[in-house]
Amino acid sequence: MATVRIELPHHAYDIRIEPGGLEELGASVRALAPHGQCGLVADPVVRDLYGASVEASLVEAGYGVVSAQAGAGEEAKNLASVEEIYQVLLEARLERRSPVIALGGGITGDVAGFVAATYLRGVPFIQCPTTLLAMVDSSVGGKTGVNVLQGKNLIGAFYQPDLVVADPLVLNSLPPREMRCGLAECVKHAVIRDESLFGFIGDHHKEILALSSNEVVELVRRNVEIKAAVVMEDEREGGVRAHLNFGHTFGHAIESTMGYGAILHGEAVGLGMLAASRAAAEFGLCPSDLPATIAELLSAIGLPIRADLPDNSSLGRAMRHDKKVANDLVRFVLPRGLGQVEIRDDLPETCVDAGWEFIRS
Ligand code: GLY
Repeated sequence: MATVRIELPHHAYDIRIEPGGLEELGASVRALAPHGQCGLVADPVVRDLYGASVEASLVEAGYGVVSAQAGAGEEAKNLASVEEIYQVLLEARLERRSPVIALGGGITGDVAGFVAATYLRGVPFIQCPTTLLAMVDSSVGGKTGVNVLQGKNLIGAFYQPDLVVADPLVLNSLPPREMRCGLAECVKHAVIRDESLFGFIGDHHKEILALSSNEVVELVRRNVEIKAAVVMEDEREGGVRAHLNFGHTFGHAIESTMGYGAILHGEAVGLGMLAASRAAAEFGLCPSDLPATIAELLSAIGLPIRADLPDNSSLGRAMRHDKKVANDLVRFVLPRGLGQVEIRDDLPETCVDAGWEFIRS
């Protein structure tokens, strides 16, 4: 077990990486938010697997459990899902001190978090991430929200949880493709902040994908520490938090043009990191062999390093729709080497095109 603490000026909380932690959830929540009722917002697949034991633990700790559902797919991450959950909580008369618990992957956490941020103007919030991606990234740092017609994550709130319980045992039921997607975000953390983590993933990806407990706990802890450090430095993304968007500007354009579902978020981020690295190399910002070094690791993990992309102008249009555009300029997070990135809004189009060509199959 490992605990990482986030200390913000207005709020502090623990992220517990704890095999078996979900079975003890009731006692952990009770210590933070003692109340008669709680709302459990779960992904239906996860609820079928773990809902009964989580609920039993909450009941044992004295809670009446009100269950609501948040779908797992990108299409479920919308205001209609939020409204449905509000209705369930209102019907059950959940009060301001009743905690809302998210049990699922990143989408469940984002939707449940937005509900927790806004229901009665904010209630205690507990994240129980059940995918590697959610454990190392989305459950930590307080970004919540939904997609709308105009784009991803355009409506939301920064709302920090009161506790995160990441139980690595649940990864046993995670499809291997999802596990690889989580590793893509870990590679992202390594490239932006920690060259030694890049080496650790290179040395241990086989054990991690085979779910060897020690390596998985170490992987999650090291990644959560990086995410925590970034969030503590810049909670609201006025500066370094934007580094976490490495691979996402190219990646979101890939996702939105190829279609959500055709490619998973982590796969698109992996490809996006390759395109960004190649663009940075073309720009003269990083060594020319960096894109191949990253591609080698992604490929060893089993992530795609090429895709059947649409033409560059469609990709460029999708990029300009992203919310990382400021004053009409696309802001790119570009590597300078392993463990270092910088934000640039002056990347020439020829470099962007070199990035696309690097990953085009
Ligand atoms: N996933 C990016 C962030 O939390 O800022």
